Amino acid sequence: MTQKKFNVAVAGATGAVGNVMIKCLEERNFPVANLKLLASKRSAGKKLRFKGDEVEVEEMTKDSFKGVDIALFSAGGGTSLEFAPIAAQSGAVVVDNSSAWRMDPDVPLVVPEANPHAVAGYKTKGIIANPNCSTIQMLVALAPVYREYGIKRIVVSTYQAVSGSGKKAIDELFDQTRAKINFINYEKKVYPHDIAFNCLPHIDVFLDNGYTKEEMKMVNETRKILENDKIAVTATTVRVPVFYGHSESVNVETIKHADVSEVRKLLETSKGVKIVDNPKENVYPLAIDAAGQDLTLVGRLRQDESIENGINMWIVADNIRKGAATNAVQIAEILAESYL
Ligand code: A2P
Repeated sequence: MTQKKFNVAVAGATGAVGNVMIKCLEERNFPVANLKLLASKRSAGKKLRFKGDEVEVEEMTKDSFKGVDIALFSAGGGTSLEFAPIAAQSGAVVVDNSSAWRMDPDVPLVVPEANPHAVAGYKTKGIIANPNCSTIQMLVALAPVYREYGIKRIVVSTYQAVSGSGKKAIDELFDQTRAKINFINYEKKVYPHDIAFNCLPHIDVFLDNGYTKEEMKMVNETRKILENDKIAVTATTVRVPVFYGHSESVNVETIKHADVSEVRKLLETSKGVKIVDNPKENVYPLAIDAAGQDLTLVGRLRQDESIENGINMWIVADNIRKGAATNAVQIAEILAESYL
């Protein structure tokens, strides 16, 4: 890692992802000169820990980014739309976790294990986008498959944790579960239906084509990251009563024939992937095991026997870490090492 140190801001520092961004900067020993923690007015004055010190949270304003080299944003789409250009104008490079900038042709969309070269495109707008959590973990596993065999089509169904909807949703699952067990009424605030003991085939808003925005993010972001608009992708995204860790059932149709044992070997040596695949011993990727660590767990590898060139797999990762905070800090590491 470079000897240079950087002034870093975390926008949305008090949120589910922002908090872990601070943790990741510390754990990965990112070369931080000064850390600025930003949130809404409500949180100004609150203190958070970084490397043994207490850092006071400040209200984010248009003057917050003076002297900042790298700004990690996770404060919602509207906030990013407004403040990311202001931060970039002030000279910071923004790594934005919201969906606001992802499909902007002048903003790179980066999964370090899949397309690290794309970081170079940050110069036009000064903004780099972190992909959707479900897209990130899918592509950690599928980018090596794409490079080796080509991909014709992906069919994915997700089982997504509530932490992806922020702190309020974590509280809702906890409080609603407790309320149901105790036969107490609970007033829902985050989801339109009960999330405790239920599955909701509804993440983000519904679009005119009947898909949700989350589903279309997986389609469009996959094509942008793999730089191939011909890849067919179809997704069903489901919220499940899990706190941390998204799981995905992925069927991938390759262009060249991919033998399942070769795919296993390929993924065993792929960056960011851990093969967890010994089903006869009840060993397969679990959200509970993925939570709190940074690898993307891949298992249940099978040849799709219904088509000539198909593989099935089960992909699990911590949506707040690899799906958001860790991916953003990895992008910052590439910036620090090669561009700033
Ligand atoms: P705050 O805690 O002060 O509301 P989550 O995704 O877990 O809900 O977190 C969202 C994060 O974005 C929080 O840190 C929240 O701060 C922050 N945030 C929300 N709106 C704004 C805003 N207008 N300006 C700055 N930060 C904001």
